[in-house]
Amino acid sequence: MTKSFPDGFRWGVSTSSYQIEGGAKDDGRGASIWDTYCATPGRVANGDDGSVACDHYHRWAEDLDLIKGLGATHYRFSIMWPRVMPEGTGKVNETGIDFYSRLIDGMLERGLDPWLCLYHWDLPQALQDRGGWTNRDIVDWFGDYTELLVTRLGDRVKSWVTFNEPNVVAWVGHEEGRHAPGITDPRAAMRVAHHLNLCHARATRVIKNHYPDVPVGFVLPMHKGYTLPHRREQDAHLIDLFEAKWNGVFLDPVYYGRYPELIIDRIEPHIQDGDLEAIKTKVDFQGLNQYFPSYIQAAEGAAWPFKHAQPPNYFRRTEMGWAIDGDCFYQTMKILQDDYGNPPVFITENGGAFTDIPKANGQIDDQDRIAYYTEYLEALLRAKSEGADIRGYMPWSLLDNFEWAYGYEKRFGLVHVDYTTQKRTPKASYDFMRKVISQNALP
Ligand code: FCB
Repeated sequence: MTKSFPDGFRWGVSTSSYQIEGGAKDDGRGASIWDTYCATPGRVANGDDGSVACDHYHRWAEDLDLIKGLGATHYRFSIMWPRVMPEGTGKVNETGIDFYSRLIDGMLERGLDPWLCLYHWDLPQALQDRGGWTNRDIVDWFGDYTELLVTRLGDRVKSWVTFNEPNVVAWVGHEEGRHAPGITDPRAAMRVAHHLNLCHARATRVIKNHYPDVPVGFVLPMHKGYTLPHRREQDAHLIDLFEAKWNGVFLDPVYYGRYPELIIDRIEPHIQDGDLEAIKTKVDFQGLNQYFPSYIQAAEGAAWPFKHAQPPNYFRRTEMGWAIDGDCFYQTMKILQDDYGNPPVFITENGGAFTDIPKANGQIDDQDRIAYYTEYLEALLRAKSEGADIRGYMPWSLLDNFEWAYGYEKRFGLVHVDYTTQKRTPKASYDFMRKVISQNALP
């Protein structure tokens, strides 16, 4: 099999605002739901929070140099809504806009296309106090926020991502409660899912209204469901429902203007006349994140008739405990190819947390991460050779960073961050990725 990527294949890198920026008290930034979540005892490992993170708010130029040094041509970053609109609506924080404006200019100066993500989970706390994603007014709030960014930054943005992982926002944030805002209400989560879809469509229209030719998409970590080998027969019927929940709820209305049959009774109470017509929008590209295969098993008495199961022991695992499975990645790309009309796909996140012990000279020889990337990139080439329209790849992530409820314990970066000194040290995987990019091929 070829180890080469096609000409014009795009290489980038991804980060997110709350995970790297810090600068929590600087220049009029408002509070986000992650500030509140982190301040709630027991929510985040070691009581960590994103108030300093990688101090990217002050060190962004050095970080852009690292991206350029990789040979990447684009950068997916996100805007922290409360940094530009501290109350979520109304008053604009000009210093916040200036920060992102300088950041975008810095990208262009270094030959990096700005890929702007509107929402990577840091909702203004002021909006949460008004019901957050459960309040249908959020469609207008999100529309106004998008309008602000489009009019102030849109002249330089090359691609827009409306949402990072709306399924995680709905299910992990509002059903499982393992992410901010920490709600555990399955009915509310369904409502949130529908509002997220409406917001995606609203934002797409706002952007297209100003820049009809600039690509807009959203990012989904698609989940392929698997049963445990010894429960294959009993649990097989659960896979479709599992995939409808994690993938179909967010893909089907956008691509086809309908929700999956299997969950329609759960979401119907939240749908109003005209909603499905409004949500169906052209997707210029599909962002696909990929980390692990989802093993499930039957569960009784819960909101859904399944629960997560530990994957079989034959998988190698990352530090997150996530099974490493390039074939699952291949399967998700094939689902997009076969079931969703083979849209242009950008892999917007993929990577692993590993232990990363610095050697005496400070270098990190993360061969396990290199093996991980090799396995997943081979899967990408396989799907591509079978016709899946994969256009580009962005590893997660540039830097070690604040990994949500895991705090700073888990490191995903190509670049190591010493959180005491904020010193950045590229790992062996950074050099590996730099070579892959420069040769446009796996070694
Ligand atoms: C994804 C998130 C990203 C990061 C990785 C490890 O679900 O989008 O912010 O936490 O997982």
